[in-house]
Amino acid sequence: MNYARFLTAVSTARKPSAIRLLTELQQRSPPSLISLAGGAPNPDTFPFLSAQVRLKSGAELEMNESLMRRALQYSGSYGIPELLSWMKDLQKSLHNPPTINLTPEEGRMEMCVTTGSQEGLGKIFEMLVSPGDNVLLDAPTYSGTLAALQPLGCNLISVPSDQDGIKPSGLSQALESWHPSNPQKPRVLYTIPNGGNPTGASISHERKIEVYELARKHDLLIIEDDPYYFLQFQKPWAPSFLSMDVDGRVLRTDSFSKILSSGIRLGFVTGPKPLVDRVVLHIQASTMHTSSFTQLMVSQLLQGWGQGGFLKHIDSVIEFYSSQRNAMLASADKWLKDIAEWHPPKAGMFLWIKLKGVKDTNKLIMEKALEKEVLLVPGGVFNINSSDPCPYVRAAFSLSTPEQIDEAFRRLAELIRDAELTFD
Ligand SMILES: Cc1ncc(COP(=O)(O)O)c(C=O)c1O
Repeated sequence: MNYARFLTAVSTARKPSAIRLLTELQQRSPPSLISLAGGAPNPDTFPFLSAQVRLKSGAELEMNESLMRRALQYSGSYGIPELLSWMKDLQKSLHNPPTINLTPEEGRMEMCVTTGSQEGLGKIFEMLVSPGDNVLLDAPTYSGTLAALQPLGCNLISVPSDQDGIKPSGLSQALESWHPSNPQKPRVLYTIPNGGNPTGASISHERKIEVYELARKHDLLIIEDDPYYFLQFQKPWAPSFLSMDVDGRVLRTDSFSKILSSGIRLGFVTGPKPLVDRVVLHIQASTMHTSSFTQLMVSQLLQGWGQGGFLKHIDSVIEFYSSQRNAMLASADKWLKDIAEWHPPKAGMFLWIKLKGVKDTNKLIMEKALEKEVLLVPGGVFNINSSDPCPYVRAAFSLSTPEQIDEAFRRLAELIRDAELTFD
């Protein structure tokens, strides 16, 4: 892979920070090292001494005084080493990426910690997308992605998709329309492979294989934004693009937001080393690193759990969301059968509902829904052009109880019927 061809001028111009490199070095050195190098403050002057975090299981995470000194201090930009190596082991056991066998220059699997996957995505986009570039994605898509991409001045091109994700034939058609030597030919494809936000769609394994082959044929990078990977309701979980990545053309973002906590802001970028290194150069020049405290707290939790304990916890999270999904589907059947359409999601926390008699849900939700005391997201906000009329709404089954979901859909049904009367 020639990674230089994918980089923006800004990313190409990034240089390592000498001070940050010293921090990385120091992190790996023995305690006997006397360093006069760093400009780090002295934690003796900080007011915090130690911390204990009680888990729901009854166990406790102990941040003793020496761990707390690390937690309160600057740390390396790739992430706290023990958290990073735990995550690398997890990625290897879940995805077995073929890139682990490549040399670093060829694109060996590398990882870094980010402050939520949103930070990783934002930095990946800034690394790869220049003004005027054509970027492929399967809209409707996550509004946070649109918010990060659109100001970069690129053209977003939507590839055809359905409840099984991107349609390879549509992607192929889009790509074939560019001459291979045209510098404007898209170089990046962004997709949410599981439980898409907002559509709930998951790309089938067969389609993923075809999409990856198309990426090889047309020399595309795939950005695999997968925060709902751990919320897949059926096992075995679908193989990821990362698991197919023989070339080093997949950048994957993972998130702990949906499974451990969204407020601790922990995400991970996994991909070919030359690209992950560029993301880290950007981190060095912006946040410097994700909070040492949260990284060490979570690392303690994961070391205690081991992979088995982590996956056991995931099972309990899946059990919750899968029963919430079932409750929402049952209520949708009860109240919306004749007036709306939907596909049961295989992952994630969203049901994407098409309201039959309604051309654009924006007006309906913004003007009428609050009167009926029910709120959903009008689908237009997930479109490339948010003012295009959109008959969909997004309903989340994450926070409300089955009883609340049922009542919400009863109110929504009433709202749609009233709207039909108004529009007739
Ligand atoms: C598809 C998608 N990507 C990324 C994110 C950002 O997640 P994080 O909390 O890890 O930044 C979200 C959050 O909802 C999401 O739905």
